[in-house]
Amino acid sequence: MKTKIFGGKKITIKKLSKKDLRNAKEFQDFINSLIEEKAQILLNKKLSLKEEKEWLKRRLGQIKNQKTVFLLAECDNKIIGTTGIDLGRGRENHVGNFGITIRNGYRGIGLGKHLMKEILKLAKKELQPKPKIIRLSVFSTNKPAIGLYKKYGFKKAARIPKQLQDKGKLLDEIIMLLEL
Ligand SMILES: CC(C)(COP(=O)(O)OP(=O)(O)OC[C@H]1O[C@@H](n2cnc3c(N)ncnc32)[C@H](O)[C@@H]1OP(=O)(O)O)[C@@H](O)C(=O)NCCC(=O)NCCS
Repeated sequence: MKTKIFGGKKITIKKLSKKDLRNAKEFQDFINSLIEEKAQILLNKKLSLKEEKEWLKRRLGQIKNQKTVFLLAECDNKIIGTTGIDLGRGRENHVGNFGITIRNGYRGIGLGKHLMKEILKLAKKELQPKPKIIRLSVFSTNKPAIGLYKKYGFKKAARIPKQLQDKGKLLDEIIMLLEL
């Protein structure tokens, strides 16, 4: 667990652990806040507490099996950011699938950059087998996210037309890769 200051706010970063099962409500509140603001993430329907608990249990199982690494950022006992990398299965198990979300009100203060650096470090250290490629998917209009990913050396590998729904439009999906 590490505490750092971002934009004048004291933020704690830690690995997801079994203890967090008790905080399922906090996780539910976090993800639903992003769904409510219609952030450019895949989910578009609020999650129930039961669904959130199941998601947490699944994640913890994957962490135990060294197939997932996952970090969360907290401020004033509220979850304000999460990031994870999940290994693919079978012939894709050299590929780590990356995701990141920061709560509205905590963006643009360097937290995304920090979490990205930390999760890449953790993935190299803890995932088995070690990933050779990190892959992500992003909405073509998500400038802050694409800016962050380019900064870390991700390269655009594909643009798939009309894959993602956003406010009544069909946007292109961008696939980006980072070779480790
Ligand atoms: C995308 C996201 C993770 C970026 O995290 P963040 O903490 O806001 O980003 P940081 O403050 O660390 O900034 C990192 C870089 O992102 C880019 N960036 C951040 N905000 C930006 C903005 N408003 N416009 C353009 N680029 C921006 C910049 O390249 C920035 O680097 P710099 O500060 O050196 O210029 C965050 O905005 C977020 O979670 N958004 C909602 C959910 C989402 O879109 N997730 C990604 C799904 S693929």
